[in-house]
Amino acid sequence: MKVLGIAGSPRRGGNTDMLLAEVMRGAASKGAEVKTIILNNLKITPCQHCDACLEKGECKIKDDMQTIYQEFEQADIIVLASPIQFTGVTAQMKAMIDRFQSRWARKYVLKVPPLGDGRKRKGFFISVGGRTVTDLFEPALVMIKTIFRILDIAYAGELLFPGIDEKGAIARHPDALSQAFLAGQKLVKG
Ligand SMILES: Cc1cc2nc3c(=O)[nH]c(=O)nc-3n(C[C@H](O)[C@H](O)[C@H](O)COP(=O)(O)O)c2cc1C
Repeated sequence: MKVLGIAGSPRRGGNTDMLLAEVMRGAASKGAEVKTIILNNLKITPCQHCDACLEKGECKIKDDMQTIYQEFEQADIIVLASPIQFTGVTAQMKAMIDRFQSRWARKYVLKVPPLGDGRKRKGFFISVGGRTVTDLFEPALVMIKTIFRILDIAYAGELLFPGIDEKGAIARHPDALSQAFLAGQKLVKG
């Protein structure tokens, strides 16, 4: 069982990083092979809408997104982690999502599996936001559920924590980190 974690925050050791690390630790404790990729360390050019992918389902931009495509194909469970920035996911996460346009083309234009095979994969979302407004996570959730659906990844749940702003504030939440550890275990077990 391979679990891929995608860290979308620009802030290393911040709140979503801490939650993601616990999910991955929980998954590893149940025997999963875990790998975390930090998007901010990669070069992912935004989609140029050149439509080249409509021909063969391949993106013609050759950058670190090639690694992401491979890692998604190899994973059984994919955990996306992003704080809320201006009501959505971070620019790093959005750039990655948009580059899955080539996989959208595979599925809807070329009628082939978006991730190379018909294997069942599961997807999980982690987010935090500094504010406590109602519907804080709704726009991000719509986007995350959409990309999972397009990639034939079954949505397996989320961990969302409002009112978490300062770096490391999540550690002061009564049980967020233990919830994350348990969620990682459950993802692998269930
Ligand atoms: C550019 C930027 C935009 C933000 N926009 C929002 C927002 O729209 N709503 C919100 O609740 N928090 C917003 N925040 C606060 C972050 O979501 C919050 O600080 C979060 O804890 C950061 O998580 P991290 O440590 O994983 O990066 C924003 C922060 C930044 C830097």
